[in-house]
Amino acid sequence: MSFNIPVPRPRAIDRSRLSYIRLRSVSPPRIPSPVKIDRSKLSYLSAPKALPQPRKINPSHVHYLRPEPSVLEKNILSPETPGNKNFPPFALTPELEEKANQRIAQYPADQKRSAVLPLLHEVQHRFGFISPESIDWVSQKLDLSPIKVVEVVTFYPGFRQKAPGQLHFRVCRTLSCAMGGSYELMAKLCELTGINRSSADAHKDPISVSPCGKYSVEYAECLASCGTAPVCLVNDDFHEGISADKAQDLIAKYNA
Ligand code: FES
Repeated sequence: MSFNIPVPRPRAIDRSRLSYIRLRSVSPPRIPSPVKIDRSKLSYLSAPKALPQPRKINPSHVHYLRPEPSVLEKNILSPETPGNKNFPPFALTPELEEKANQRIAQYPADQKRSAVLPLLHEVQHRFGFISPESIDWVSQKLDLSPIKVVEVVTFYPGFRQKAPGQLHFRVCRTLSCAMGGSYELMAKLCELTGINRSSADAHKDPISVSPCGKYSVEYAECLASCGTAPVCLVNDDFHEGISADKAQDLIAKYNA
């Protein structure tokens, strides 16, 4: 059995209407020719300009080259006073070294920093005050950084950072003594000894020394004898009930 199925004939295609064939005939886009550059106008190709010369600076006009001492430096400094002539400059003697070793030996080997107070007392007892050189020596002796020693010195008002007079008056100014007349006592002491406390900074620079270097004054906080106000210390001697009118006698007692 055979089938006689008619096969359709291919359609004739008009190729001129085929768009993809038309595309082939499109000419490629024109690439613009490069712009001609006038190289003489290119600044980066021109010869390097001479670098500006540094301005000459007058060092005397530069204030940051001579900065003010910081608060820390001021705290470490020991400004000279007329009282410096009363004390020898700090010097490491065999006697001081031996005394320091004895003090340090009183503490466990790993706690020798505890000897900082005894060592500072030894220094102040011998040299009158705690100088920057003595701070260095104590810090080296106890393997501490100098700032740790400065912290102790500035914390305890009993340590002085500048030379006092031969007679050092410490007048209590806490409440009972203030009400009992300690400010009047201080004014009288200054008047009798020729001390000018007008520019004194009670916190940073508490000690004022007379021009002759013999007397110095300082305010102290409660000296634990409030019932006998006003009280004061003269060097290490304690005096009670010293009103301003007794100041003259007090000074005379030490000058006798
Ligand atoms: S207030 Fe001066 S001794 Fe206490």
